[in-house]
Amino acid sequence: MNRKKIVAGNWKMNGSRSENAPLIEGIQSADGVTVIVAPPFVYLSEVWDALSGTPGVELAAQNCHAEASGAYTGEVSPQMLKDVGCTWVILGHSERREYQQENSDLLLAKTKAALAAGLKVIFCCGEPLEIRDADQQNDHIAQQLRETVLTLPEADWNQLVIAYEPIWAIGTGRTATAEQAQDMHAHIRKTIADALGTTVADQVRILYGGSAKPSNAPELFAQPDVDGGLIGGAALKAADFNGIIEAAKTTSK
Ligand code: 13P
Repeated sequence: MNRKKIVAGNWKMNGSRSENAPLIEGIQSADGVTVIVAPPFVYLSEVWDALSGTPGVELAAQNCHAEASGAYTGEVSPQMLKDVGCTWVILGHSERREYQQENSDLLLAKTKAALAAGLKVIFCCGEPLEIRDADQQNDHIAQQLRETVLTLPEADWNQLVIAYEPIWAIGTGRTATAEQAQDMHAHIRKTIADALGTTVADQVRILYGGSAKPSNAPELFAQPDVDGGLIGGAALKAADFNGIIEAAKTTSK
């Protein structure tokens, strides 16, 4: 199955007008892969003004609300994200699960709202270190998916990408080994196949996230079930982000 690779840069709560400029200028043509940039809400429009002419580059938000509009002070709807150029939204990130207490019910509601508004969703899952140490990561991830995206109909799955982000690897410098990533991605694909069939499972892209960088991306992306990366820290340096995009191009050939 030839799945087009994705390299998505999640800037998290980083950036400023002066810092964004060189980063955006540094993003080169995607050329056979999809490059997604996810800046904070306030910079979405101006980042997209600068990048919308670059082939293969798309815009993502890092969160959305589950309602289209209304009295929800401080929130941003999927429709608004579409309006300013987003084609994607990241949902289910472990930082939002932890710091904003986002649970499976809320994440499913947000996912449905985003899909209904015509956004594609990068849905994140991942286990904490104590689950990995207890060797319970497969059950943990299957449960996260069963409570959320696996309840969605088959028709939604061409708008969904899964990101596996082991929490112990995020921002720690401790990357999952290529073997650990492959094992989990194969497990995720099998869990999807068991629930929805192999047609869905074979086409869905599963991204790896957690201390990915130019030096480890080629080996990670060469794994048969790793279809690209969701990149944090390394997406904040143009040279590193481009290095990871190169790795995706090379391993796509
Ligand atoms: P790092 O690449 O900084 O580990 O972050 C990964 C991540 O959380 C991307 O969403």
